[in-house]
Amino acid sequence: MRVPATSNNAFATKIGAILAAAGSAVGLGNIWRFPTETGANGGAAFILIYVLFMLLLGVPVMVTEFVIGRHGQKDVAHSFLSMSGGRKGWRWMGLLPVVAGFLVLSYYSVVAGWTLYYAIEAGMNGFAGKTAADYAADFARFSSDPLLPSLWMAVIVGLTCGIVALGVRRGIERGAKIMMPLLFVFILVLVGCSLTLPGAGKGLTFLFQPDFSKVTGATVLSAMGQAFFSLSVGLCCLCTYACYFRKDVNLMKNGMSVALIDTLVALMAGLIIFPSVYSVPGLEPDAGPSLVFITLPNVFQQVFSNLPILAYGFSLLFYLLLVMAALTSSISMLEMAAAYFHEEYRVSRPKSALGVSLVCLLLGTACSLSFGIWADVQVGGMSFFDLFDFLVAKFFMPIGSLLMCIFVGWVADRREVMDEITNGGQLRSFVYPVWLFLIRYVAPLLILLIFANELGWAITFAN
Ligand code: PHE
Repeated sequence: MRVPATSNNAFATKIGAILAAAGSAVGLGNIWRFPTETGANGGAAFILIYVLFMLLLGVPVMVTEFVIGRHGQKDVAHSFLSMSGGRKGWRWMGLLPVVAGFLVLSYYSVVAGWTLYYAIEAGMNGFAGKTAADYAADFARFSSDPLLPSLWMAVIVGLTCGIVALGVRRGIERGAKIMMPLLFVFILVLVGCSLTLPGAGKGLTFLFQPDFSKVTGATVLSAMGQAFFSLSVGLCCLCTYACYFRKDVNLMKNGMSVALIDTLVALMAGLIIFPSVYSVPGLEPDAGPSLVFITLPNVFQQVFSNLPILAYGFSLLFYLLLVMAALTSSISMLEMAAAYFHEEYRVSRPKSALGVSLVCLLLGTACSLSFGIWADVQVGGMSFFDLFDFLVAKFFMPIGSLLMCIFVGWVADRREVMDEITNGGQLRSFVYPVWLFLIRYVAPLLILLIFANELGWAITFAN
């Protein structure tokens, strides 16, 4: 069944489709995880490898998701079914991302909740007049509190649920059209400020001058994981969005635009963070996940110690940026699972969004408590938060991507696939055969290599 172009169930414009998909991709992965990983893995060399994986793996898998989704024009389960040539088993492939969707939204919204709390703190000038030790103690106290972080997480999940319940056009597209341009303005202002700081030169060198002596097998694997996470591929969130693309959207161009926007935002986040960090004597960029919540509030105050108004503005804009980036991503996570229950079990959209949100709130509370009173509750040696992150990034994303590549590259009817990607034969480009080659051979092999390595079978490669 084709979705009527006027319905609230499709993106009204091409730019809306790009912005929504870019909103899913651009998130905490770019502004929190990317600088953390870049810092931990030695800078520019990591970035180069990461960009290579984006091109070889990320973009091809993303376009594969677009092909499956737009062909199906419904939820994930239906999308797989519609291209499976009657092999009904593929319908169950739809369940995999739905389970992963619950997990990812649960732990992602914990960190999103932290960013919201920090944005409010920044708005109330709560960072002023503190010492470096205060920021570390404040973060430890806040994140281990049994109630507060869960409440902020609930606010994020509530906002996400409200937007998804409004529908594709009135909620998701409108949200992306408002938040994404704002995000760009904020990020440009912050980059502009950051490049005038005394540490700008050192920050730029760290970001753009590769030192390959620091590259190990682990760097390569981290870069691959980051490419998956940052582009949101493998969990069918983009597949679900593609169900709402119009038939004249150029899927390949969309995929490349989204990847370009995503990479630019990650680099700009680096351009904000590293010059700032290098502007405070004694600080190094490898602070780990606490970089954004402990190091940066301190950096902002110290760098602008003579101009408190700039310290205030810089912090507020930065955390608001994080909140918006997180929201446009969490919306895509919830939409994927909510659309599944809405379409497959005929539950109304608001009810479906609410049901998924409530389950995620429960799971998210467990993740949040793993920074405090449940720190010792471990499964397989990991806290709930770490377990969810591990399952999503190391299992569901690569396995989902692998299955999608096999599905489109080997199972689905070739003519149907080419018809979808070329918009019924209207588009021609040398890129299409390259894409097909990448998803048939290169991407599956690379993904299998990750698994082999995780299982310890390719340690020689890792060392
Ligand atoms: N890509 C998002 C980010 O960078 C995270 C995400 C993962 C979104 C999986 C949807 C699905 O933050």
